[in-house]
Amino acid sequence: MSVSAVSAVPATAADSSVCAPLAVLGRDVTVPLVTGGEVTYAALDYAASAPALQRVWDDVAAYAPYYGSVHRGAGYLSQLSTDLFENSRTTVAEFLDCREGDQVVFTRSTTDSLNLLAAALPAGCEVFVFETEHHASLLPWRDARVTYLDAPRTPAEAVHTLERALADRDPYGPALVCVTGASNVTGELWPVRELAAAAHAHGARIVLDAAQLAPHHPLSVRELDVDWVAFSGHKLYAPFGSGVLAGRSDWLREAEPYLAGGGASRKVTRRPQGGGRGAWTWSGTTPPPGTRPGRRTSSACTPSPPPARRSPRPASTSWSPASST
Ligand SMILES: Cc1ncc(COP(=O)(O)O)c(C=O)c1O
Repeated sequence: MSVSAVSAVPATAADSSVCAPLAVLGRDVTVPLVTGGEVTYAALDYAASAPALQRVWDDVAAYAPYYGSVHRGAGYLSQLSTDLFENSRTTVAEFLDCREGDQVVFTRSTTDSLNLLAAALPAGCEVFVFETEHHASLLPWRDARVTYLDAPRTPAEAVHTLERALADRDPYGPALVCVTGASNVTGELWPVRELAAAAHAHGARIVLDAAQLAPHHPLSVRELDVDWVAFSGHKLYAPFGSGVLAGRSDWLREAEPYLAGGGASRKVTRRPQGGGRGAWTWSGTTPPPGTRPGRRTSSACTPSPPPARRSPRPASTSWSPASST
């Protein structure tokens, strides 16, 4: 696509007099050379995986002794960890400028987030993706009918191509568009808002692969009007193994749990009952600590006084900006 390649990083960010780079882990690491000796490592591919911010790492380390199972226990540390985990949904929702009623689901990565959504597609849903997408956006939809769209030459052509494909779909049933916000190959920013408008005008939903956008660009789910956004912690200077799928809850709510077991169940019987419902019910395993993106880093991990004794958390807990703290 010959879209003017816009640098995702504002020019001023590179100017250390304006904004000094934040400290990251591993900046003094030395590695062996094939020719012998050692050299300080220069990681040149933060797009693949960025080092954790030092201050985020410090927060996680400060919290680590207080770690307790999330949603699995009544003990002090379990309740503390559960509170931190639930509160971090609000932090992420603010980071993404989510709408009221949007869900924040913690996953392992962008790939995991998109696979989670793929497992929740309504019956007969057709998926539309540009052939230029990352494999994480191209491949999760194996059980659905997928229409691959030609690589556009301009942003306007991208919108036009999508509109035509959506208008021509037969049957004119549920549809999902999956598009990246910033290309991992060229760095181009895609016309997400316009693509979202086209999708909605044609009765489709849209999920934004923000793996490369979220680390470098303000992201507003509300302004872009995307139905979901997916991103990875490890590209966002967070410690490893965390991801997010945020957005509308209805498709997820209707779907069977993605990972059966653990927090995915309200009640277990010998016969299938359907899954539990609520943001954490899509995380059918014990979640990892340190899942917050880098923009807000401190207060949530400061050990606080014991939480007030309370009855077990109901399975239907769901996040909304108005109701959660
Ligand atoms: C645009 C884009 N989408 C998705 C992914 C997948 O991210 P992850 O491997 O964290 O799931 C990447 C990783 O490079 C990417 O660049």
